[in-house]
Amino acid sequence: MIRMDHATTPSLRTRKVSLSWSTRSTDTTNNFKLTIPDIELSAGDTLLLKGSSGSGKTTILTALAGLMGKIEGKIAVNGTDLYALSGPKRDAYRANLIGVVFQQLNLIPYLTPIANVLLPFTFQRTAGFSDQDLEKRAFDVTSRLGVNRSEMLKQSSSDLSVGQQQRIAIARAVITRPAIVLADEPTAALDDLNRDAFLDLLFETAEGEGAILVMSSHDPAVAERFSQTLDLNRIQTGLEGMV
Ligand SMILES: Nc1ncnc2c1ncn2[C@@H]1O[C@H](COP(=O)(O)OP(=O)(O)OP(=O)(O)O)[C@@H](O)[C@H]1O
Ligand SMILES: [Mg+2]
Repeated sequence: MIRMDHATTPSLRTRKVSLSWSTRSTDTTNNFKLTIPDIELSAGDTLLLKGSSGSGKTTILTALAGLMGKIEGKIAVNGTDLYALSGPKRDAYRANLIGVVFQQLNLIPYLTPIANVLLPFTFQRTAGFSDQDLEKRAFDVTSRLGVNRSEMLKQSSSDLSVGQQQRIAIARAVITRPAIVLADEPTAALDDLNRDAFLDLLFETAEGEGAILVMSSHDPAVAERFSQTLDLNRIQTGLEGMV
């Protein structure tokens, strides 16, 4: 059940985390293993995961979303050890505390923009909120992002401009008031101007909602915006990766 309250101040802490993917073959030399420096973030903090292709950016985001089978070490969100939770509890954690922005936005074209924003609520019941409450919140968030009511009610999300679709994707990621917003290379397909405008919106929205933002990118131009950077190329070469 989704609870849209901030009972606790958002926090994300990792301790001695190692993530690995194993191939099915008995030859383990190609297994991917990544040990990450401890992360400590709270509301308003922003972390950039940077590194070349294959360095493990998506793997870390997958782990933070609670989607790895198991991990070594500990990831605690709002003080709760994520991988100590049973499957259904971890699913509930994801629905409640995590918002996601994908590179391809992943809006559903046969749903209206408002239905796309409300999508996270269709998988989980919401505690104490009527459909009207949820709709009102969706219109509030999107109007702050500059998308008006009539645009929100267009028949298909693909009737919107790409910039508007990006706003819808950001609104969908924060609609449940998550503790953490995860974004995997959300700017990879954008030119410099659109990238900067998109990041302005993403940062403002995450901050306005009191969320922690963790984003991956291999674009060095974005690094200065973040309060912390984890450089995965440096970790792989054995250097201290946290900047
Ligand atoms: N589901 C999976 N099963 C097995 N191995 C995987 C899986 N996902 C990723 N890997 C491996 O983990 C390593 C890191 O991949 P990851 O996708 O995290 O890199 P990335 O930094 O996100 O790269 P990119 O910039 O190309 O998106 C790669 O060697 C990849 O082959
Ligand atoms: Mg990736």
